[in-house]
Amino acid sequence: MKQTHMATMKAVRFHAYGTPEVLVYEDVAKPEPAAGEVLVKVHATSVNPIDWKIRAGHLRGFRDYPLPFILGWDVSGVIESVGAGVTQWKAGDQVYGRPDIGRSGAYAEYIAVREAELARKPKSLDHVHSAAIPLAGLTAWQALFDAGGLTPGQKVLIHAAAGGVGHLAIQFAKLKDLYGAGTASGRNQEYLKQLGCDLPINYETTRFEDVVRDFDAVIESMGGEVRKRSWKVLKKGGILVALIGPPPSEEDAKAHGVRAAIIWAQTKTDQLAEFARLADSGQLRPEIAAVFPLRDAAQAHQMSQTEHVRGKIVLQVV
Ligand SMILES: NC(=O)c1ccc[n+]([C@@H]2O[C@H](COP(=O)([O-])OP(=O)(O)OC[C@H]3O[C@@H](n4cnc5c(N)ncnc54)[C@H](OP(=O)(O)O)[C@@H]3O)[C@@H](O)[C@H]2O)c1
Repeated sequence: MKQTHMATMKAVRFHAYGTPEVLVYEDVAKPEPAAGEVLVKVHATSVNPIDWKIRAGHLRGFRDYPLPFILGWDVSGVIESVGAGVTQWKAGDQVYGRPDIGRSGAYAEYIAVREAELARKPKSLDHVHSAAIPLAGLTAWQALFDAGGLTPGQKVLIHAAAGGVGHLAIQFAKLKDLYGAGTASGRNQEYLKQLGCDLPINYETTRFEDVVRDFDAVIESMGGEVRKRSWKVLKKGGILVALIGPPPSEEDAKAHGVRAAIIWAQTKTDQLAEFARLADSGQLRPEIAAVFPLRDAAQAHQMSQTEHVRGKIVLQVV
């Protein structure tokens, strides 16, 4: 009788919703690339807050996944093989990207990804630094320029400016000649200055609405009170771009004579290619707060859940 051996790989999956300890490092079936997909050997992936929000069950009903499930929607690695019809990539290509958030993620040795979800990784950055960029970078860029429509000379307030999204948003704002204010704790004030933030605001000592007036946009990722207070800093016709639900109230926007939007970052390879170009010309520097081996994903989640990480947490696979 012919015996077939299922190829396996190491991955981190969760079998039930819960605390970080539900993340299990184990053997799972190695994926195969379908037509139009490539198999990427993952060298590094990163932790985004959505990972632990999903694991904890906060997004149930909104984003349901079949359990057990592999999280992780940043990848930097090397193409291992290509599926039928793939023309853009070949084995050995060094790539990075943000895989489809509706599908199995990159906390694994391999991931099958649609060929159009990848770009060439920055040549000057290692996989750890490259994996820190895609999801947070796409979010920051799309908030500022796609949704926010910001142009040189305009003023933007970026909340959580020292975080994964925020520290890239400040850098993009400077690159596009915006005036960028940012909020962070006292611990991160010097860091915000180093990033080029024009007006670092210590939320522990200063109410941002006391020092920010008539701005063109706010990038809002905190919700609650921070969102309520953010309307006041906008000039008429300005825009509040929310990164988290619930969607900002149209009523509040109208009452303040401003606009509101909520975004869900999309994978755009032209933007990923631009980030690689900016990194290679020394104009974009992802900050790495910590690197954990893949098997320690639970510790990485614990750290992310403090919501006080500077820059990004990366999981190293190779
Ligand atoms: N819509 C989308 O597509 C999308 C994409 C990515 C992320 N998001 C969401 O956007 C949010 C930010 O993501 P992220 O990856 O940047 O998170 P993150 O890296 O975990 O953010 C951590 C940062 O938040 C700062 N922070 C905490 N409390 C604050 C406060 N009261 N005021 C100002 N800053 C504060 C911390 O600075 P201190 O330590 O100095 O306090 C820290 O640097 C998350 O909720 C995430 O789920 C949405």
